[in-house]
Amino acid sequence: METPGRIKIIELFKSATGVVVTVKGWVRSKRGNKQIAFIALNDGSTIHNIQVVVDLNKIPEEQLKTVTTGACLRVTGTLVESLGSGQPVEIQAGEIEVYGTADADTYPLQKKGHTLEFLRDVAHLRPRTNTFGAILRIRHAMAFAIHHYFNEQGFYYIHTPLITASDAEGAGAMFHVTTLDINHPPKNEQGAIDYTQDFFGRETSLTVSGQLEGELCAMALGQIYTFGPTFRAENSNTPRHLAEFWMIEPEMAFYNISDNMDLAEDFIKYLVRYALEHCADDLKFLNDMYDKELLERLQGVCNTGFERLSYTEGVDILLKSGQKFEFPVSWGVDLQSEHERYLVEKHFKRPVILTDYPKQIKAFYMKQNDDGKTVRAMDVLFPKIGEIIGGSQREEDYNKLLARINEDKMEIDSLWWYLDTRRFGSAEHSGFGLGFERLLLFVTGMTNIRDVIPFPRTPKNASF
Ligand code: 4AD
Ligand code: MG
Repeated sequence: METPGRIKIIELFKSATGVVVTVKGWVRSKRGNKQIAFIALNDGSTIHNIQVVVDLNKIPEEQLKTVTTGACLRVTGTLVESLGSGQPVEIQAGEIEVYGTADADTYPLQKKGHTLEFLRDVAHLRPRTNTFGAILRIRHAMAFAIHHYFNEQGFYYIHTPLITASDAEGAGAMFHVTTLDINHPPKNEQGAIDYTQDFFGRETSLTVSGQLEGELCAMALGQIYTFGPTFRAENSNTPRHLAEFWMIEPEMAFYNISDNMDLAEDFIKYLVRYALEHCADDLKFLNDMYDKELLERLQGVCNTGFERLSYTEGVDILLKSGQKFEFPVSWGVDLQSEHERYLVEKHFKRPVILTDYPKQIKAFYMKQNDDGKTVRAMDVLFPKIGEIIGGSQREEDYNKLLARINEDKMEIDSLWWYLDTRRFGSAEHSGFGLGFERLLLFVTGMTNIRDVIPFPRTPKNASF
């Protein structure tokens, strides 16, 4: 039999029948009897498997011994309409070549129906499951859509550094980057570690945000966005926190807080609509298997306006709700996800944008309101997730910004360059950060952030 070049399984479902095709992929299951065997093969191009039908009079059963779940195969055969109800087409096998076997006694994904917890322990193999295939394809589609959206809107993609000497969020939970010998670091006269002898000649860390550098570029190019890995060393072992996550940070000159909210709402609706249009098969699978309201929730977000109100109004609603929260609410506290979700899921039943937070709980760069108590922050809160976006209008006034930096006792000598944007050609500007994995939690309906990134980094976990 002549061996045509490989065709992807997703293409087979659109191809004419009666032709000889070659597919390559991994066995999901094999069943059958003495006359006939059925192999379900998947190559990652779609959630759907292709059924390979093997006539055991033509291909001896002996040859199929190593065709077990997890094995990698080439199959060449004729594409025909399927008689079974499960699939439109199938392949009548002419030739089967086993590229790599997968021992049935030791292959961890031998059986179906593993829990998500179990799959986290075999994160090196979980891309082979239907669930992770679907999630990873959706993750790709969302990354692509993000670039597409900003490109269409005239934003420039800026690569901000991962190694930094400044703490953008002022939260102090950063991973150090050093080449010093941690057992014998050089000391200065005061007995502290002498970072002048370190690789960069100063203390450096992995970035918690690309925003500050993003602002520099926005104040030159107009509208920019960053999309890169972000690192936080906070010991938050929750289903919504990663130590290494990806963040999208648009930054826009001449935008005020209300322009910023309009962009955030339009952006996120575009992404959800894109997923509904381009990831229909994978979303249907996740809807059927994990969360029967997923598709409805996604449609809902596309079709409703986001509720906009101030933090103060939000806190009032929570105080009057009569609801018992694990963490009590009062004006000035940082809202917990239980509070955010109450507002979104119970009170407004739609996404909510809260603005004008108390300045003590927000970062130094946010524009200070005239009341002296609040800053022009905005958090976008989503059903099931809580905070999905955090952003603000930026303080463009040099003196006010400097005063706040001093108030927060931040190190000026690592921020002088940032202050320069307010010395030279300052203007109103705004931006926000969307947590990529939080977006994916929403779009896939998964409930643990470890399940929407291929190799999660969380406290005590960096194995794979
Ligand atoms: O609210 P955050 O901390 O805001 C910033 O970093 C700003 N510099 C953004 C800006 O204005 N350019 O983080 C933004 C978003 C959060 O809303 C959340 O979605 C996500 O990043 N995020 C995390 N995602 C996963 N794991 C973590 N540990 C996260 N911390 C924040
Ligand atoms: Mg935040």
